[in-house]
Amino acid sequence: MTPHVVVTLPLPASVLDELGRSYRLSAWSETGPMPDTTLQSWAADADAILCSLGTPITATLLANSPRLQTISSISVGVDHIDLGAATRAGLPVGHTPDVLVDSTADMAVALMLSVMRRIVEADRFVRAGEWGQGWSTDFFLGTDLSRATVGIVGLGPIGRAVAARVGSFGARVIGWNRTVREVPGVCAVDLDDLFAEADVISVHTAATAETRHLVNRDRIGRMKPGAVLVNTARGSVVDETALVDALAAGKIRAGLDVYEQEPLPQDSPLLGLDNVVLVPHLGSATAATRQAMMERASINLASGLRGERLPWCANPEVYGPG
Ligand code: GLV
Repeated sequence: MTPHVVVTLPLPASVLDELGRSYRLSAWSETGPMPDTTLQSWAADADAILCSLGTPITATLLANSPRLQTISSISVGVDHIDLGAATRAGLPVGHTPDVLVDSTADMAVALMLSVMRRIVEADRFVRAGEWGQGWSTDFFLGTDLSRATVGIVGLGPIGRAVAARVGSFGARVIGWNRTVREVPGVCAVDLDDLFAEADVISVHTAATAETRHLVNRDRIGRMKPGAVLVNTARGSVVDETALVDALAAGKIRAGLDVYEQEPLPQDSPLLGLDNVVLVPHLGSATAATRQAMMERASINLASGLRGERLPWCANPEVYGPG
């Protein structure tokens, strides 16, 4: 029988056509998130789910989807999936590591430079027709990445790629990882010291119960005046209320790709602040990277449905020891 696959997000027609040659698809095609009730009813007789961020895959959904053989996510992060419940149910969960490392690291550096050189603020200024004065020595002054100490929180592949990039700009690089990790060119420091020493802090830890609000009010309070916090990881890693307070007080600056609630609510106080650059979760958003992510997710999906080991599995313990 042709496997039934639920696709929880709109995908390019070419990708859906390709999937449709092998599977019976129930595909969500609207831009808003797929309602849980629709997902529950479609998944009730599904063999697999192809998903991404924004659609929670809960323990209840898994319990009510007895035919499921695998879940494949078009993302490296799998915090939208109850991984524990999937593992207990014997379901391998696929994800897409590696291919988005460079794009996400580029975005982190782009945010640093945008904040430090006030690019977005200056663009708004020019467009508003406010550029009336000539060149002067104190006009729109920023700070230099080459003169900065950059603190990397989380030295996985993306954190290390950011460290290499900012190192090549001439920055001094310090870093912290939950399990101590030697990285060439990165001086390992205690997390609290990192917050006190760095001029720029870039967050690259996965979202887990342990990393929730790792960047808390106390650590934000340790940051140097004018220091920059960049988050391209997950919103839950930063206490956003504490961050807003520090930004509103003009103590620090920030560049954010991710938020505690996405899409960012229209009444978020972040929207009224000039010392923060905001982008809508675009870390991996280049055409080539998204193509590579969809390819990996399709390969994971096919492997899971054939009962083979997923090449990029977020819960390898599902296969048992060895
Ligand atoms: C994006 O945030 C991802 O996890 O791939």
